[in-house]
Amino acid sequence: MRLPHPRGPITAALFARLATPPPTPMLPTGTPPAAVLPTGTPPAAVPTGGREAPSGRSELADGDLQLALFACYELHYQGFDDVDDRWEWEPSLLATRAALERRLEDALAAIVPRQPAVPPGEVRAALAELTRDDGPPLSAYLRREADLDVFREFVVHRSIYHLKEADPHTWAIPRLRGGPKAALVEIQADEYGGGRAERMHAELFATTMARLGLDASYGAYLDRVPGVTLAVSTVMSLFGLHRRLRGALAGHLAALEMTSSAPNRRYGDALRRLGGDRAASRFYDEHVQADAVHEQVAAHDLCAGLAAQDPSLTGDILYGAACALALERLWAGHVLSRWRRGLSSLEPGSGTRESVAARSA
Ligand SMILES: [Fe+2]
Ligand SMILES: [Fe+2]
Repeated sequence: MRLPHPRGPITAALFARLATPPPTPMLPTGTPPAAVLPTGTPPAAVPTGGREAPSGRSELADGDLQLALFACYELHYQGFDDVDDRWEWEPSLLATRAALERRLEDALAAIVPRQPAVPPGEVRAALAELTRDDGPPLSAYLRREADLDVFREFVVHRSIYHLKEADPHTWAIPRLRGGPKAALVEIQADEYGGGRAERMHAELFATTMARLGLDASYGAYLDRVPGVTLAVSTVMSLFGLHRRLRGALAGHLAALEMTSSAPNRRYGDALRRLGGDRAASRFYDEHVQADAVHEQVAAHDLCAGLAAQDPSLTGDILYGAACALALERLWAGHVLSRWRRGLSSLEPGSGTRESVAARSA
């Protein structure tokens, strides 16, 4: 994947820097690190947008902010073909990322109330209570009303996460121990296909995209999705890449798993109604089965187990779950409101709904 197009002053400055070699020189063999560390290098001159009067919703929908964060995080995943890999740990880049992350965390805090503390033994029930509200009826809309172009748009949005499905939560594995670690590995092993590449959920999703005439290459639609779609991913990476947020990451995963099985059945039904074949719907069918199990493992063995090990993480576990649900509702509200008005939910400049498939078929 190549760097996407900038969406404002933050990404314009950030991408201009990333297109050049990083300032830190490679360590010449035999040279003591202190002699070559750029101690006088100023932080990256990348605007981070200030922090005056942030509105949680607007920050989470801010394409410039979310794309900048997405790009900073992507350096830890597959990277960009046109960005030097050494940027991943470049201190000035990390300083920029930290400033952007403060805005993201403030935005989350503004819209997601902290749950009342519960004893570790009540974490599972608290998660069940949180996930009781289904949010906007996206899956029902897709199952009953959406045409094929709308369904393609749905898939385009989801591709931002599903083509790297499971990766953000994998960051937690070395940060856990005992039962919660084993539980997370059990879930992730399924997500990664149980040792068979063709069964990896990301691969199943790529097949769905291809069967719909979409471009299944990694990041192909990064320029097309709005900020709120990117925020769904950046929040996962925020939780995944900070050990202090491991409780939130566990809760986030549990929320995804606990709200997955029933909607995926409807997504599969939608695709069959629209003429999709078995290969196209396999990603969704697989999740109906797998996530009925994963939700139990995630809620009980991972989250309740982690809370029992470290009761101080209980609030973070519930907060992470609440953040996942809030992002999903924001995103679903956005796409549904657009579709109900007959509008594309994708970025302006991308033309009509039909262009998603026409451009890539
Ligand atoms: Fe999955
Ligand atoms: Fe799952």
